[in-house]
Amino acid sequence: MEQGQDIFRLPLEYVKGVPLIKHFADALGPLQSFQARPDDLLISTYPKSGTTWVCEILDMIYHDGDMEKCQRAPIFIRVPFLEFSVPGLPSGLESLKDTPAPRLLKTHLPLALLPQTLLDQKVKVIYVARNAKDVAVSYYHFYHMARVHPDPGTWDSFLEKFMAGEVSYGPWYQHVQEWWELRNTHPILYLFYEDMKENPKREIWKILKFVGRSLPEETIDRIIQYTSFKEMKENPMANYSTLSRDFMDHEVSAFMRKGITGDWKSTFTVAQNERFDAYYAEKMARSSLKFRAQL
Ligand code: A3P
Repeated sequence: MEQGQDIFRLPLEYVKGVPLIKHFADALGPLQSFQARPDDLLISTYPKSGTTWVCEILDMIYHDGDMEKCQRAPIFIRVPFLEFSVPGLPSGLESLKDTPAPRLLKTHLPLALLPQTLLDQKVKVIYVARNAKDVAVSYYHFYHMARVHPDPGTWDSFLEKFMAGEVSYGPWYQHVQEWWELRNTHPILYLFYEDMKENPKREIWKILKFVGRSLPEETIDRIIQYTSFKEMKENPMANYSTLSRDFMDHEVSAFMRKGITGDWKSTFTVAQNERFDAYYAEKMARSSLKFRAQL
């Protein structure tokens, strides 16, 4: 698919104070017509926190570990991305039309922009959070390869923007904290990428309990294998390689890039790390949330 160049590298657009990819900002109006169902399950994350991984795990769970069924379509079709919209590609809302219940849905929206119907219908949410330093590095590479983002500039300038919340979806700090607080009033399973790396089986058990399902041990083992970084990297239905190169250029950086915890250490300078830690301490001072930036 040939894409016009004018739809890429556009400046972010602010909606209710939240900077967004322009096309996603445009999708928020039409998204008002979206009706949540009580049996929907929402996967919510700040970008680059393990969204695709958890989506694949949940699709496998919903299909009793049947790998063939999970090959039926790319992950962004199997788990519609609510606010997704890019000219020339099916929007999240369009993908939803063909999605049978019970539906898996994905969003990165902060609460200020989340469709109210999801809260009204008490839709269960699985939130996945990842330590901010690895998110920043992963986001930088993603900005490079996914041209719906503005140009990332140098790593140093991107890190400054990330710290200031001037990247698509706004500040990481606010996102992870507001969804953490929401679990006091809304059914949310709050997971950490680092815990999933450490012990995927333990985290899959948590997911099964939360969604009220059970699976035989051997099926869980199959899911762990099928959703390992190594397998997902090679799986065209999980690795975004079916999209046009104009949109995502895996030669610039693969979507399935490294899949590890602590990669930030090879990117942050000592000075950047000190500055980041000081800012982080200030932003997270009042939060009970604790992250691990290494395992
Ligand atoms: P890196 O860029 O650090 O490698 P999202 O799906 O939210 O966009 O997150 C993408 C990040 O999750 C990328 O991180 C990607 O490599 C990593 N990832 C995707 N699938 C994974 C898996 N099965 N195991 C571990 N990490 C995974």
